[in-house]
This record gives sequence, C-alpha cells and structure tokens, in this order.
Amino acid sequence: MKKVFFAALLLTGVAFTFTSCKGDKKADKAAETTKEVVKEVEETTTKVVEEVKEVVAELSAQAQKGLEVMDSFDAANKCAACHKADAKFVGPSYKEIAAKYKAEKGNIVKFLKEQADPIVDPPQFAIMKANLAETKKRSGDDLAAIAAYIRTFE
Ligand code: HEC
Repeated sequence: MKKVFFAALLLTGVAFTFTSCKGDKKADKAAETTKEVVKEVEETTTKVVEEVKEVVAELSAQAQKGLEVMDSFDAANKCAACHKADAKFVGPSYKEIAAKYKAEKGNIVKFLKEQADPIVDPPQFAIMKANLAETKKRSGDDLAAIAAYIRTFE
C-alpha cells in the first residue's frame, strides 16, 4: 500500500514538474517573443530617429545656406535691411511671412521668381517688388534655400 502511495506521489510530482515546465516553456517563449518585438520596435525607432535627424540636419543646412544667400545681395536688396526675424520693420517679419505662407499654402520661391502675387502685405508690395529683379537672377536652389530659412520661423 505504501508503495502505491509513493508511486502516486512520485507520479504527481513528475506530472507537476512536467506541467510547470511546460508552463515555463510557454512563458519563456512569450518572453522571447516580447524581447524580439521590443528589439524590433527599438531598432525601428532608432532608424526613424536617425532619419528624422538626417532630415533636420539637411533642412538646417539648407536654411543656413539660405541665410548666406540672403546676406549676399547688395546693400539695397539685402533682406535684413527691411526684414527682421520676429518684429515688423520696413517689411513684415519672417515669422509673419512664414505663418502667412503656411496658412495659405503659398510658394515663397514662386514669389521670389515674380511668378506669384504677394499675399502678406500687398499694399506695400511696391517696396518689395524692386528686390525681385535681383532674386529672380538667383538659382532655384538659392531661392529654395531662402524659402527654407524663412520657413524655420513657422
Ligand atoms: C527695401 C526693403 C525690402 C528689402 C530690401 C527686402 N524686402 Fe521683402 N518685403 C518688403 C516689404 C515692404 C514687404 C511687404 C510687401 C509684400 O508683402 O509684398 C516685403 C515682403 C516680402 C515677402 C512676402 C511677400 C508676400 O507674399 O507678400 C517675402 C517672402 C520677402 N519680402 C522676402 C524678401 C527677401 C528674400 C529679401 C532679400 C532678397 C527681401 N525680402 C528684401 C521690403 C523689403
């Protein structure tokens, strides 16, 4: 009788170990899958962050170039002679220009090529118009750089 009892106890023990082992395996697998997913998410996030960093660096390099282009005009056409970052001067601030172009989905490059009408302060356009003769002479890349610089004030 004792033997049967021990055998039953042993069997229960084995069965218990087996099931808990099986449970552990399931848990292990779930943990493994979670780890893999976390790793994948981490890798994707890192990649996206890297890509965003690249875009930002590229954008700021273009904006930086824009500032240089704006500074390369003769005194009479130098943008800074009439425009300030966030305060109205002779012309509207870059902040105001950026906000208006964003809201109206305008195209700064086209304006600087004299292919689009003014949208920020049309009654004062005559003063700005004189500069378009000079901006028009610049390459599309230069004008896109100016636009990128102005857009940093959005
Ligand atoms: C002599 C003064 C003067 C200079 C120099 C000047 N601006 Fe302006 N600018 C103005 C005035 C005034 C306005 C407002 C009229 C208008 O909105 O067109 C204006 C408006 C603008 C606008 C908004 C146009 C719109 O849609 O209404 C942009 C963009 C702009 N200037 C860019 C430039 C750039 C780039 C330079 C340098 C190459 C420059 N400006 C040089 C006076 C000037």
